[in-house]
This record gives sequence, structure tokens and C-alpha cells, in this order.
Amino acid sequence: MKECKIIDLPKIHDHRGNLTFFESTNSIPFNIKRSFWIYDVPGGEIRGGHAMKINEEFIVSLSGSIEIEVDNGFIKKMFILNRSYYGLYIPSMHWRQMKNFSTNAVALVTSSTIYDESDYIRNYKNFLQLIRKK
Ligand code: TYD
Repeated sequence: MKECKIIDLPKIHDHRGNLTFFESTNSIPFNIKRSFWIYDVPGGEIRGGHAMKINEEFIVSLSGSIEIEVDNGFIKKMFILNRSYYGLYIPSMHWRQMKNFSTNAVALVTSSTIYDESDYIRNYKNFLQLIRKK
């Protein structure tokens, strides 16, 4: 089973400020098909609450702070994203919840597939059943 993990990104610093980047397969372990971003999240809201059958994701907090709880069906891990020079890789078949968005938090999400609602598992019991069948 692939594991979720924090991936450190290059930070190019000079007197004009910082620049950080990532590239398909060099820094993140999949080819990028899609990017989207989550922002203006009202205080206390929880996003995510699903797993994906095939899609893999890499999430960077471009601004502010976000907590992400990732569950592989056996163990749960909590990650705090609060710098824009690292991100969280989430493999397929991992249940995730994004919570405690700070004011002005912006999460950039990069995905290995284009959007496909049929790739979502939105019921936690179904997720556990599928994981345990493997
Ligand atoms: P969803 O993935 O459920 O959001 P989150 O996991 O952040 O809570 O998506 C919310 C809505 O946006 C849902 O109706 C599907 C739609 N959507 C797209 O149309 N394209 C996309 O790339 C994504 C990620 C979502």
C-alpha cells in the first residue's frame, strides 16, 4: 500500500523573496492532470470527507494553515500544512478530511486524474469495506 507523506519542495531564496515549485514525477510521484484550489472556507468548516479510487493528490498550503487527517483504513495520521515549501502526498484509497482552515488559507491541490465523480468514495463504511477486501 502506498503511504501518504510530506514532500519537501525546493525554496529558492534571494533578496526579491522566495520561489517554490514542483514538477510531475521529479518532485511528486504522479503525472499532473488537474489543479484546483480551496479558499474562502468559513471558520469551522470541514472539507474532504471522501477517498478516491484512482486519483492521487498533492496538497500545498499557499497561504495560512490547514489540518488534514488521512486514514488508510487502519491508521489515521494528522498533518498540519502551514508553509508553502512542502506539501502532502495522498495516494488513492485514503480517506481525508481537511479542517481548521485559518483565515485566508488557500490550499492548492494537484491531481493525477481529471475530475470524475465516479472515482469518489463518499461513504466511510463503503471505504472500509473496499479497503478490507484488498
Ligand atoms: P469535493 O471534491 O467534494 O470538495 P472537497 O473535497 O474539497 O470538500 O468537490 C466539491 C464540488 O466541486 C463537487 O460538486 C464536485 C465539484 N468539483 C469539480 O467540478 N471539479 C473538481 O475538480 C473538483 C475537485 C470538484
